[in-house]
Amino acid sequence: MKISPSLLSADFSNLSRDIEVLEKAGADYLHLDVMDGAFVPNISFGLPVIKSIRKVTNMVFDTHLMIERPENYIESFAEVGSDIITIHYESSIHHDRTLNEIRRLGKKAGISINPSTPVSLLSEILDLVDLVLIMSVNPGFGGQKFIENSIKKVEELDKLRGSRNFEIEVDGGINVEIGKRLLDAGADVLVAGSDIFKAPSIEERVKEYKRLSK
Ligand code: DX5
Ligand code: ZN
Repeated sequence: MKISPSLLSADFSNLSRDIEVLEKAGADYLHLDVMDGAFVPNISFGLPVIKSIRKVTNMVFDTHLMIERPENYIESFAEVGSDIITIHYESSIHHDRTLNEIRRLGKKAGISINPSTPVSLLSEILDLVDLVLIMSVNPGFGGQKFIENSIKKVEELDKLRGSRNFEIEVDGGINVEIGKRLLDAGADVLVAGSDIFKAPSIEERVKEYKRLSK
């Protein structure tokens, strides 16, 4: 399994310290939640922050774009050091073009769906993605309650996957116990924000996730 801690729950006045702890603990990806106050009702951080933290770590930057018109910013996110660039299915229309562009820039292409968006809508673009991100909360905030229906969506996507090798990532309201159920349903990558940063030991909590097996 892979764990992608969400930086949204970190201490923003001490980002490099928190990132170092996550990297040492063996986290696989660093999940970066970019919010524009339009696609989602919250504003987080953007290009300058990603550019700065790129200097302090070699972790895989798993960039989750919760922004309108993501196609206008792909090159910029590639330039500041994102490794995986995930756009939302609901945020734009020409996904074929945008996903191809992400790959052309040498980055991994991801598509994300909100809780109300069915998995079946992805059928024509599954060959163009390296990752599918299933949102298990309505995007915008950390610390929300996991939506149970997401387990069924992971199972459905895992069946649709066939011999393709994109990763299935799940994001929102996850703890270790829910994480285990998601892995059993077919997920490969778990995002966790508040569960990791509110734990008595960030390092120990990351290791608990890493001990879960698929
Ligand atoms: C929600 C974000 C998530 C969030 C997860 O809009 O996309 O990545 O930070 O936080 P938790 O794990 O606290 O739900
Ligand atoms: Zn996210």
